[in-house]
Amino acid sequence: MTDDSVPMGQFADSLRIFAGSSHPELAQEIAAYLNTRVSEIHTERFSNDNLMVQLGESVRGKDVVIIQSFTPNVSEHLLELLMMIDAARSASARTIHAVIPYYSYARSDKKDAPRISIAGRLIADLLGHAGADHVMTMTLHSPQVHGFFPVPTDHLTADEVFVDYFHTLDLSNAIVVSPDIGHAKRASRLAKSLGIGVAAGDKERQSDDSVAISTIIGDVDGRDAIVFDDEIATGGSVCELVNLLEARGVGRIILACTHGVFSGPAIARLAAMDKVYEIVTTNTVPIPSYKRLPNMRVLSVGHIFGRAINCNLMGQSISSLFAFWSEKWIGH
Ligand code: R5P
Repeated sequence: MTDDSVPMGQFADSLRIFAGSSHPELAQEIAAYLNTRVSEIHTERFSNDNLMVQLGESVRGKDVVIIQSFTPNVSEHLLELLMMIDAARSASARTIHAVIPYYSYARSDKKDAPRISIAGRLIADLLGHAGADHVMTMTLHSPQVHGFFPVPTDHLTADEVFVDYFHTLDLSNAIVVSPDIGHAKRASRLAKSLGIGVAAGDKERQSDDSVAISTIIGDVDGRDAIVFDDEIATGGSVCELVNLLEARGVGRIILACTHGVFSGPAIARLAAMDKVYEIVTTNTVPIPSYKRLPNMRVLSVGHIFGRAINCNLMGQSISSLFAFWSEKWIGH
């Protein structure tokens, strides 16, 4: 926990924090930063499989923060969140803030096959319909998904924690590598913050768990590589990229991603990558012990959400949370 957590009693009795069932540990961390506690909820599954969620204390006239990440079972967690928002609205909450550290449906952001739903937009609409006044999320698959939300939305970045961590390493021979050109801008921002170069793979997705990377654009030969992506899901993208990097004589490889989803074959694939020195991710998604490889480092983003919630509730600008790109790191 960082030492800039808010002073005790800042919100007196005006704030209620609730955690959906996806990630109670992160909710506890955010509440600790805000010097408050997580309020109880009561959930019940009826014999007909219907879900019931009850908020454990009065929210009348309160600012309500509900924390839920879209982790498996995503549909259950989504429904639980919608019901919690609706419950807070009908119980006369003053404001309702949906904090979704990992918005998995951001990957469904375009109509790239006939007769499909752009579910990233549909779910954003549902959050607004349920009664959310405000959404906070982190590192959406593509930045444009931000525009799907019908209510004010803070699209936060975890890059601050990556920059802090990578500054502790020897980066004299390192380069940041994005698995695909579409995400090269993000990688380039990280590289600038670290004062190093950037490269990108030319990736084409073939199926949910496999991709083809035809080439790497940039000078990676003989360098140490920080592979940087928004998420590692099945590990298909990083697996393909690591093979290519090895063929280009790259030295030490570090994999870094905001959302350590690690679904399907991911952990087996990552465990088999001898050349990967470290896998650095964050806790936007809970990572159970059986997925924690010995070379995995999980950085906390609880304080980033805590700071953003504090600024929102205190009516302060949150743009300062992003100022590190130009002011805090570059050139230091
Ligand atoms: C994709 O386009 C994203 O930026 C990530 O590279 C992708 O979600 C990773 O998925 P996987 O690990 O299954 O390749």
